Amino acid sequence: MLEIKNLSYRVENADIVNSVDLLVPDRSFMVITGPNGGGKTSLAKLVMGISTPTGGSIFWDGQDITALSVTQRARLGISYGFQQPPRFKGMKVRDLLEIAAGEHISHDKACSYLTKVGLCARDYIERDVDSSLSGGEVKRIEIATVLARRCKLMIFDEPEAGIDLWSFARLTETFQEIHDRKEASILIISHQERIIRLADEIVLLAGGKITAKGSVDEVYPQIVSDTVAGCNRLEVKGAC
Ligand SMILES: Nc1ncnc2c1ncn2[C@@H]1O[C@H](COP(=O)(O)OP(=O)(O)OP(=O)(O)O)[C@@H](O)[C@H]1O
Ligand SMILES: [Mg+2]
Repeated sequence: MLEIKNLSYRVENADIVNSVDLLVPDRSFMVITGPNGGGKTSLAKLVMGISTPTGGSIFWDGQDITALSVTQRARLGISYGFQQPPRFKGMKVRDLLEIAAGEHISHDKACSYLTKVGLCARDYIERDVDSSLSGGEVKRIEIATVLARRCKLMIFDEPEAGIDLWSFARLTETFQEIHDRKEASILIISHQERIIRLADEIVLLAGGKITAKGSVDEVYPQIVSDTVAGCNRLEVKGAC
């Protein structure tokens, strides 16, 4: 279980993440949504240890991990798929999957992770993870590496970004399968209604604060009613 207590991230007098409390139960499916710039990626990076909080604590299975490095958190079972994944010149997709898995994996096993993200394994397994891959391809390979890590908590930052409709459908099936099999906790940052509707719990993060939390039926109507013709009242309260 992930427990975030009073977590804050303040940069240059701006409260990017502001006293956030959040509980992600084991094997749950949680989606964090909210306006651009609301603090979602910043919160994910604090959980993964990529950024250091200016206040508060993070507990994982009861252990305070606030001071632990990214590598230590990864070893404990937390993984994160970047909103904008890096590319690795000179490394093949197969190598990247094997590094993620942390052990030698068979050709078929490596290919199975690509299939889960809607990529034709035969076409991609020997490709270099460099700039020759399209944005959607590199994003899906990144998601495949998160799957290959088989962590207890998988965090995906806008997995839908740049992904075509067909691959997106496959991807949502994969998330649903993981959840149905209770293989891991899934924490997805997303703006996509279809992903939001898969979740057990929706968290709305705006201005660095949690402004709503609950089931899809409770929170989704609130999200829709708070958005008026491109001017999101959660984001710019009083400014329009
Ligand atoms: N290191 C930093 N220095 C200054 N501002 C920052 C820093 N990191 C994040 N911010 C700002 O904090 C806010 C939250 O950024 P974040 O990337 O967490 O938003 P987000 O909710 O993920 O948005 P999006 O939906 O666009 O991905 C933004 O206004 C961003 O510009
Ligand atoms: Mg983001």
